[in-house]
Amino acid sequence: MKGIILSGGSGSRLHPITKATSKQLIPVYDKPMIYYTISTFIEGGIKDILIITNKEYLPIYKKILKNGHDFGVKISYEIQQKPNGIAEAFLIGKNFIKKDEVCLILGDNIFYGQDIKFIFKNSYQNLNNNIASIVGKEVSNFNMYGVAHLDKRNKLLKIIEKPKKKYSKIAITGLYFYPNDVVHKALSLKPSKRNELEITDLNNIYIKEKRMDLYVLKKESAWFDMGTHESLLEASMYIAAIEKRQNQKIGCLEEIALANQFIGIKKFNQLVKMLPNCSYKDYLINIIKK
Ligand code: DAU
Repeated sequence: MKGIILSGGSGSRLHPITKATSKQLIPVYDKPMIYYTISTFIEGGIKDILIITNKEYLPIYKKILKNGHDFGVKISYEIQQKPNGIAEAFLIGKNFIKKDEVCLILGDNIFYGQDIKFIFKNSYQNLNNNIASIVGKEVSNFNMYGVAHLDKRNKLLKIIEKPKKKYSKIAITGLYFYPNDVVHKALSLKPSKRNELEITDLNNIYIKEKRMDLYVLKKESAWFDMGTHESLLEASMYIAAIEKRQNQKIGCLEEIALANQFIGIKKFNQLVKMLPNCSYKDYLINIIKK
């Protein structure tokens, strides 16, 4: 399966932070935001990754992540000219996806918890049956997201984007899995009132065809969408607290690549040697010792 990280957008809601750089490069506690999405892909077993970003920031992404080989993945890059909508990712990524299935993650979403590996396993199984998958999470501020409209038996009827009425408490997160026909379906989408190709319109096509599975994240798993200054701070504080309490980093690419055998111990040692003296390096040295 191919993986796409959508890292464009105008970042207007995070202004003036995003005057300085791309939203998905700003720090979330001790790492750039993009580290967390790449680590989710590594945990899910995805090796072939496309990052879609703005022309302006492309050189910075390339400088930080290069071709991905340091972390045992292959990273390619494409440009989104302007924020024409999340579903445009499949049109921009058409030549990258080729005949494969594809997982899309929004660059400002962070996932943490035991569920992550299961979500990928479950989605691979669904894809074997030509079924797409989305991931939900119970939230209180439902009107900021795409929300699941469920029937009495919790069957997914439709997704409503930023509803005024409370259809359910289940927000649809920015992690999506599709069969190869997603490219064809994205081509058929028409721009919405806000002039975007909407991911929700695409998902509703799969729901109508009875080819969509919704997995709801467990209560103990965390999901952050860093759309506002508050949610960015919340995510940073959550990560700081977990890292401190469990002495375990979240989104540490070197560690996750080693643990998932994307790289071997020799490569890991090389990467550690190249780091400047800092607490991140000390943490990695401790892993070698362990
Ligand atoms: O985070 C989950 C939510 O993401 C879902 O619940 C919604 O259904 C979905 O529409 C989306 O809502 P947002 O309002 O959060 O989308 P936003 O426009 O903020 O874009 C999400 C990310 O994708 C953000 O990091 C910027 C990037 N993006 C967005 C657009 C529209 C792009 O790179 N290009 C784009 O054209």
